[in-house]
Amino acid sequence: MSQKKDPKDTCVLVTGGAGFIGSHTVVELLNNDYTVVIVDDLSNASEKVIDRIDQIVGPDKAKNLTFYKADCNDRNAMNRIFDENPIERVIHFAGFKAVGESVQKPIEYYSNNLGNTLVLVDTMRKHGCKDIIFSSSATVYGVPDKLPLTEKSPKKPATNPYGWTKWMIEQILTDLHTADPEWNVVLLRYFNPIGAHPSGLMGEDPKGIPNNLLPYVAQTAIGLRPYVHVYGDDYDTPDGTGVRDYIHVCDLGTGHVAALRWMNGRTGVEIFNLGTGRGTSVLEIIKAFSKACGHDIPYKIEGRRAGDVAANYADCSKAKREMGWTARYNIDDMCRDSWNWQSKNPNGYGD
Ligand SMILES: NC(=O)c1ccc[n+]([C@@H]2O[C@H](COP(=O)([O-])OP(=O)(O)OC[C@H]3O[C@@H](n4cnc5c(N)ncnc54)[C@H](O)[C@@H]3O)[C@@H](O)[C@H]2O)c1
Repeated sequence: MSQKKDPKDTCVLVTGGAGFIGSHTVVELLNNDYTVVIVDDLSNASEKVIDRIDQIVGPDKAKNLTFYKADCNDRNAMNRIFDENPIERVIHFAGFKAVGESVQKPIEYYSNNLGNTLVLVDTMRKHGCKDIIFSSSATVYGVPDKLPLTEKSPKKPATNPYGWTKWMIEQILTDLHTADPEWNVVLLRYFNPIGAHPSGLMGEDPKGIPNNLLPYVAQTAIGLRPYVHVYGDDYDTPDGTGVRDYIHVCDLGTGHVAALRWMNGRTGVEIFNLGTGRGTSVLEIIKAFSKACGHDIPYKIEGRRAGDVAANYADCSKAKREMGWTARYNIDDMCRDSWNWQSKNPNGYGD
């Protein structure tokens, strides 16, 4: 049984805490009085994020944050981090996340995502820490039989190595609990995280051509891309374009705080969907973003992309019922905050 503790007495290790979702979650953790240790190798993040987190939370709370630049595959570094900090819980974001790239680089994806998870949980076990929240994804549901997706919807074979790593890590963590029931595992299946911190100090900073719709739309709005590619307008959806459940990244942050509170003093394996429960089409996103930035965003309809599903959105009633969590932000808020970030930081963190 994990020990029940107050946030102010709880040190949380956040792997990948300098990344998009990690950084927004760290802000919520510090604002809720947790002590936070970030480990990030900066393979897809900037060290400037740490200063931005400090600015947002202010000097008092920033004292409760420690940053290590290290690779979670590095056993010695991970051991040292656990030796130097009284880590009680872990939120595991670190990993590669680009679906398309994972098809080209399966060895790198399996090696980093699975490898770093194995080193992490082995280090946790050696230090008597058995509480972990894992960043999973709606991708494990594959092509849905029925919408909305609940946590009981079947997992389907993944269509790319990235998706398989999420699938397999869920299994690894479940097996850990089978072997040792003291493990306390929460699998959070995110839908489509977008938006940015309302301050405009933190947001998504993709390297190269963005893989996801929102950063692409934002970069088109600022003139870095000529138009948005809309892949398919003949799906069985209200306007024919793909429908997804977009969730504000700050809502994901509060979802992790809710999960930490929920898991306090428990053991087991529990799955929660984190989304808004509402589907939004590609054209609706382009329209909402045009409203946020004050001008029309050019787009071109192109053929469907292999592997894309027509629609998916979550049933989030379990997270509401069990953890008391719901998303607060709507699509207009998400687009407003993305635009605020993009327009104030046209080159992201500028690295
Ligand atoms: N963004 C999404 O659409 C989405 C959706 C579902 C799930 N997820 C998952 O959420 C997590 C965070 O996603 P994100 O969008 O913030 O991605 P991100 O790339 O911004 O964050 C991941 C962070 O992990 C770091 N990292 C990678 N490998 C590492 C290693 N071996 N050791 C230490 N640090 C390492 C990177 O530098 C980066 O800062 C990932 O596991 C991702 O798969 C993301």
